[in-house]
Amino acid sequence: MSRIPIVAGNWKMYKTPSEAVDFVTSLIPELSPLDGVERVICPPFLAIPGVSAKVAGSPIQVGAQNVHWQKEGAFTSDIAPAMLKGLVEYVIVGHSEVRQYHGDTDERVNMRAKAALEAGLKPIIAVGESVDTYRAGQTETFVGAQIRACFAGIPQEAVSSIVVAYEPLWAIGTGLTPTAEEANQIIKNAIRNVLASLYGEDAAQQVRIQYGGSVKPDNMKGFMSQPDIDGALVGGASLKVNDFVTLVKLAREAKGLA
Ligand code: PGA
Repeated sequence: MSRIPIVAGNWKMYKTPSEAVDFVTSLIPELSPLDGVERVICPPFLAIPGVSAKVAGSPIQVGAQNVHWQKEGAFTSDIAPAMLKGLVEYVIVGHSEVRQYHGDTDERVNMRAKAALEAGLKPIIAVGESVDTYRAGQTETFVGAQIRACFAGIPQEAVSSIVVAYEPLWAIGTGLTPTAEEANQIIKNAIRNVLASLYGEDAAQQVRIQYGGSVKPDNMKGFMSQPDIDGALVGGASLKVNDFVTLVKLAREAKGLA
């Protein structure tokens, strides 16, 4: 089963709309030739229309950083799935910063993922353990439970359009990472095997699973050389044109596409 690798840049709360358009203007010619890998940019909401218009006709895709589960309503500050439709292909749900600062739970992440799918958007479901869970040796149990909760009620036919991002909380923005072998083991045991128990081996083999957390040009090759790691969700290094381009190049090389 060969899965198309996917490298996504999560810009978090960086770049104004005009800075974002300038950035992708530099990125497009560099990234366009690097085929075989999906290349996704997730700007802040306000920058999405400009970025989306700029990348139109190029192979670069756009994602949002979150989405509400209701179609519309009195939810001040939120964005509904239909508002993103036509502007983005992907939407990150369950990022640890949304869990931490906005109180997202697995239940909410599950509702967001289902609402995204219903609107024809592809969710990137982010999971990952705290440093305490990691130190206690409970990572696989914890992440496995997150996967079961986040996929609750998601039908079999939708599973292949979902991307999972495994992001240990202690690795995000810290420069610390698990070893590539360790990340692969957790992804295999706590994500792919749990998906296999829910949906069958064939379906589980189709799901792309990213590693995220302090992915940089100097560690990308190691992560991408692992058999169960299909790409990366990248924060800091996605804010620099050269670094992001290098990450996509390294993904292609590691997956035998270059
Ligand atoms: P980082 O962020 O690459 O800056 O560690 C990753 C993320 O939060 O998705």
